[in-house]
Amino acid sequence: MSHTIERHRGPAKILFVDDEPDLESLIYQKFRKKIRAGEYQVFFAHNGVEALSKLQEQPDIDIILTDINMPVMDGMALLAKLNDLVTLVKTVVISGYGDLGNIRKAMNCGAFDFLTKPINFQDLEITINKTLCHVQQLKENERSRQEREDKLRQSEAREREKAIELELALQNLQRTQSQLIQTDKMSSLGLLVAGIAHEINNPVNFIYGNLTYVNEYTQKLLGLINLYEQHEAHNHPEIEALIEEIELEFIREDLPKILSSMTVGAERIRQIVLTLRNFSRLDEAEMQPVDIHEGIDSTLMILQNRLKSKPDCPPILIMKEYGDLPKIECYACQLNQVFMNLLSNAIDALNYYDKKRSREQIKNEPSTITIRTSMLNHDWVRISVKDNGLGMTSDVGTRLFNPFFTTKPVGEGTGLGLSISYQIVVDKHGGDLRCFSQPDMGAEFVIEIPVRQREGVQMKAS
Ligand SMILES: Nc1ncnc2c1ncn2[C@@H]1O[C@H](COP(=O)(O)OP(=O)(O)OP(=O)(O)O)[C@@H](O)[C@H]1O
Ligand SMILES: [Mg+2]
Repeated sequence: MSHTIERHRGPAKILFVDDEPDLESLIYQKFRKKIRAGEYQVFFAHNGVEALSKLQEQPDIDIILTDINMPVMDGMALLAKLNDLVTLVKTVVISGYGDLGNIRKAMNCGAFDFLTKPINFQDLEITINKTLCHVQQLKENERSRQEREDKLRQSEAREREKAIELELALQNLQRTQSQLIQTDKMSSLGLLVAGIAHEINNPVNFIYGNLTYVNEYTQKLLGLINLYEQHEAHNHPEIEALIEEIELEFIREDLPKILSSMTVGAERIRQIVLTLRNFSRLDEAEMQPVDIHEGIDSTLMILQNRLKSKPDCPPILIMKEYGDLPKIECYACQLNQVFMNLLSNAIDALNYYDKKRSREQIKNEPSTITIRTSMLNHDWVRISVKDNGLGMTSDVGTRLFNPFFTTKPVGEGTGLGLSISYQIVVDKHGGDLRCFSQPDMGAEFVIEIPVRQREGVQMKAS
């Protein structure tokens, strides 16, 4: 039987373990050619302990040929130790003919093969080659197993990476999709709103514009009636009867009231149209550096009428805590629209709250809107609008930026104020708009926007 050995890497490493002093020179002599040719590299140990330390120095020893009877640690003990080590080394035991019992035991303990003494060197070479062939095969198997494992690990890692990429792509897709839906909703809403605003604008202007004349003419007609009365023109019985029938006194009193409430109504419609037009015209204005405080102050001026004391509402105090701000690059009229929305909401919240509060409570804690501005850091400003009104539940808090979400009675709120404001602050200025509120604890709206709008949206570094 012949065994061809194809060594892939260097010589076969063989360790001889024998207490026989002559063995070393004998081996060198017998295997001289192979050792010189670099086929074999041989090591020697005189007992099991030495063999184990040799194995530690040379962990890639392929084959151990060991005697059984040796001092310190015999071949059987060495075999047992080798079994505990995870190694591919194969052991061949060598012992005398008379020691067949031990040889059998060694074979049962995991020895790969055995040889008997006195050693027949031809046999020894065949056994070495056969064992090496086997070790070679084992190593080959081990290598390919490791290669397979490596490949598996690599492909697992690749799959994991792919899964992560897919997950990210999916998230991206979902975000884009919701943005698309949002943009689509917004642009069709914008078109719709612009259309409605345009359609309402003309007729409302007829009404609003003519109301002044109707007012004026009514005054004149009433004056004329007064004059008739003074000159006793009403003494005519037919006129007297008509005056009775139409309740002239009541008309005289009620007509100006009706006209003024019609004016208020028309004014409100005009405001709504204005809001709708602003809503659909978000892209028009120019971006330029402006003084935010001026914007807030002009908004407050427009709202002045709503802050004043009324028969059913106490006045609203405005506390300004303005910081030192640079000019902010922004769409000024859009930001003003945000201030308008936040301030009107605060006024509404305070008015609703005051209806629930006693005079005493209102006196102790007057309705107040606090406007604070400050630099968040070198590049960002913070504007806070805080009221001590009725606040809101967390349910309202999660929905208040949704378009058309309102808790106000029909006719009082469209539910667009905050969704427009959010769009202006976040989408148009790359900023942030948040609300902090609890029921009966007022509400604070915080705007954070970058001072400059370089290269689109900036990162908010803290
Ligand atoms: N300062 C505030 N305090 C308490 N609740 C508030 C405050 N601001 C907003 N809200 C709640 O958020 C809802 C949505 O506000 P938003 O401004 O979007 O719409 P609206 O004020 O109802 O109607 P409008 O379109 O006329 O502004 C309000 O109806 C109200 O319930
Ligand atoms: Mg509002």
